[in-house]
Amino acid sequence: MNASMYAQRRSALAAQLGLKGVAIVPTALEHPRNRDSDFLYRHDSYFYYLCGFTEPKAWLVITGDGNTTLFCQPKDPEREVWDGYRLGPADAVAGLGVDAAHSLTELDAQLPRLLDGRDALWFPFGIHPGLESRVDGWLGNLRARVRYGALCPQQQRDLCGLLDEMRLIKDAGEQATMRRAAQISAGAHIRAMQLSARMLREGQDVREYHLDAELLHEFRRHGSQYPAYGSIVAAGANACVLHYRADSAPVRDGELVLIDAGCELDGYASDITRTFPANGRFSGPQRALYDLVLASQQAAVAATRSGARFTDPHDASVKVLAQGMLDLGLLDGSKVGSLEDVIERRAYFQFYMHRTGHWLGMDVHDCGGYLEPSEVGQVSTRQDALSGETIVNRPARVLRAGMVLTIEPGIYVRPAEGVPERFHNIGIRIEDDAIVTETGCELISRGVPVDAHAIEALMAG
Ligand code: GLY
Ligand code: MN
Ligand code: MN
Repeated sequence: MNASMYAQRRSALAAQLGLKGVAIVPTALEHPRNRDSDFLYRHDSYFYYLCGFTEPKAWLVITGDGNTTLFCQPKDPEREVWDGYRLGPADAVAGLGVDAAHSLTELDAQLPRLLDGRDALWFPFGIHPGLESRVDGWLGNLRARVRYGALCPQQQRDLCGLLDEMRLIKDAGEQATMRRAAQISAGAHIRAMQLSARMLREGQDVREYHLDAELLHEFRRHGSQYPAYGSIVAAGANACVLHYRADSAPVRDGELVLIDAGCELDGYASDITRTFPANGRFSGPQRALYDLVLASQQAAVAATRSGARFTDPHDASVKVLAQGMLDLGLLDGSKVGSLEDVIERRAYFQFYMHRTGHWLGMDVHDCGGYLEPSEVGQVSTRQDALSGETIVNRPARVLRAGMVLTIEPGIYVRPAEGVPERFHNIGIRIEDDAIVTETGCELISRGVPVDAHAIEALMAG
């Protein structure tokens, strides 16, 4: 735990609250899974970003002068026998570098005092169910004392905007953790590929859960706390279901397997997709579509650099995919027209219906605005040719060094009239994690190959 790094983040945040501002940041709630058993606990990312503390039932209060108060679970030898060690307020001051720490039991009594005399109250809007009513309670309590000189904040403001901007640029320490997370995940993909080919060679009944188990084993073996999201292990036609989860379907010789899985390491996500032939050899049609998706990813990678727009990689991959759909006969040019028509009318949407990337960080779909803040006023509208809806456009975010995003084009061919049968039920996505640099981007997830030849070599023998 690097207490001074968190202290720096808190003071950078405090400087934006206004001298008389105050911010309240709770960590995440625990969620029951069934009787007496909770879902595995995961802290709130904003809270963790500001103090690195992973226990549940904790709150930060940060004032505009940079002072931080933590509320956390009190020491309780009896409960600690059941639930494990608690840091406790007495050790939190030295351990976390906060200015003061109190037991959670004092939260309701202390909060009105901490809000007294502040002009703006900041907290994350729309994230923590019930937080608004707790804030109302503390303000009501404070208001009851105005006759005795108490002074209520006049404004409530959303803290997410400030923290989102801070979290959007990953510092050197965050980048190092993300590189390590991506490296572990890459190793897990390699193992899943090799297991699939080996089990099929041995004539075993391979199921999606076998590959899922291999991923999890590799994540945990290297100290990852948990998968960053539910792993997708999709055999054959299941790959055309975008949010499919690893289940029990057979992994068949001759089919492709799409795995979208990444570990979370010390609070940071990785997010990798590879698509590979279950038996280690691509068929002709599989290879044709695979190479197309890879070419579209390469175009997107080439468009990812400081100064480019967030939408540039998407536009670059759409261009390549759309041309490939025409060339391979997925789209009939005599019906859908030229490349420009396919893009303008979004005819490619039948086979490519998602965006090419998202921010990546503590959250797999990380926070951070997708619009350029200095240009949000530049609004234009256009009629979407496919849906007929009016689309409001604002200039996309300009990429800067230290931003991290995924680059994940794909193609998903559901059987339909006019679609060549050799491509039916093939679903392919290739996803890598990129740190934006001044001159381009660093792909931190290429520990697992993407080239078709390299995948075949990896899976052979
Ligand atoms: N694994 C989630 C995503 O690729 O967006
Ligand atoms: Mn992704
Ligand atoms: Mn993914």
